[in-house]
Amino acid sequence: MAYFAPLLSTFLFFSIYYSQSNALSSNYYAKTCPQAEDIVMKVVKEEAQKDRRVPATLLRMHFHDCFLRGCDASILLSSKGKNTAEKDAPPNGSLHGFYVIDGAKRAVEAICPGVVSCADILAFAARDAVVLSGGPYWNVPKGRKDGRISRASETTLLPKPTFNISQLQQSFHQRGLSLDDLVALLGAHTLGFTHCSSFMNRIYNFNATHDIDPTLRPSFAASLKGICPLKNRAKNAGISNDPSPTTFDNTHYRLILQKKSLLFSDHSLLTTPKTKGLVYKFATSKSAFHKAFSNSMIKMSSLTGGQEVRKDCRVVN
Ligand code: HEM
Ligand SMILES: *[C@@H]1O[C@H](CO)[C@@H](O)[C@H](O)[C@H]1NC(C)=O
Ligand SMILES: *[C@@H]1O[C@H](CO)[C@@H](O)[C@H](O)[C@H]1NC(C)=O
Ligand SMILES: *[C@@H]1O[C@H](CO)[C@@H](O)[C@H](O)[C@H]1NC(C)=O
Repeated sequence: MAYFAPLLSTFLFFSIYYSQSNALSSNYYAKTCPQAEDIVMKVVKEEAQKDRRVPATLLRMHFHDCFLRGCDASILLSSKGKNTAEKDAPPNGSLHGFYVIDGAKRAVEAICPGVVSCADILAFAARDAVVLSGGPYWNVPKGRKDGRISRASETTLLPKPTFNISQLQQSFHQRGLSLDDLVALLGAHTLGFTHCSSFMNRIYNFNATHDIDPTLRPSFAASLKGICPLKNRAKNAGISNDPSPTTFDNTHYRLILQKKSLLFSDHSLLTTPKTKGLVYKFATSKSAFHKAFSNSMIKMSSLTGGQEVRKDCRVVN
């Protein structure tokens, strides 16, 4: 027995360590800050009324956060000294709602100082963003901790819009997410906006034999070229992800089936029978989509990684 003791204690150490840092629960703040979620919802709602782009950016921010180092609010940290943070790297494209999280954090700190992590506030805000857009409500597991590291170089680990289905599957699998989660979560692209830069490669010089990606409907590709000319393009040129970019509906899946998805990655869902079947299912049933989306969001937002409860979401304690 003595022989195994070191192994056993190592095992115990790791299981205790991980259960302490990773155990999320729905009543985590029941005693210490029961008002936290209501406060965040109020702030997100006010800001969404002022700027209709807010829900989309909060949802995307939470996804970027969770995919790098777990949902640890690493996306919220500012660059400091020689370190360039995640938020200052190129894929940040449309991330613009950092002030909303700052406002929510200030409001929560005023009632329960030092208790609620920035990572939890962002997870609440992402859920609220979906609810305020007419999407499903889910119970957010709580108790995430905030991390102390954010590196611009790591944003290369985010899935890219040029990914095919095997690359997408691998990226999600590395985070414990399945193909079902992939198809459900990409329904988030029913909200928001995409800049021309995210799909220019599909409409000009696609490859040696095709100027335009042949998986795009030709009439749609032509209209995209009108919006995104090669020369003298406005800096913020782009297009809404679907005709109802503030409504959390299943239109995005219908557009994929019509060969009108802006991102090659979204189109790739049609390239395996399993994922294509799910696209059909969600295109025809909004309730099936909403149910699957909630479940997959809970999975994605339960990837944890931090150590502390930051006082200011932009800087480590
Ligand atoms: C395969 C994975 C994904 C890729 C490659 C991807 C890529 C992109 C790209 C390129 C944009 C447009 C950025 C721009 O041009 O400004 C975008 C927007 C967006 N993404 Fe994703 N995404 C992925 C997964 C997700 C997931 C899992 C979510 C959330 C659950 C999400 C939520 C959003 C939202 C809401 C927007 C609109 C943002 C806005 O209008 O501010 N994405 N995504
Ligand atoms: C996004 O990254 C660029 C550098 O690639 C930086 O100049 C810009 O300020 C960043 N945007 C935000 C909102 O942080
Ligand atoms: C996806 O792209 C990778 C890298 O280019 C390639 O190795 C793989 O065969 C592709 N998979 C599919 C299904 O096209
Ligand atoms: C260009 O892309 C199309 C569609 O994916 C493909 O059929 C064709 O083989 C590609 N051509 C080259 C030269 O890679």
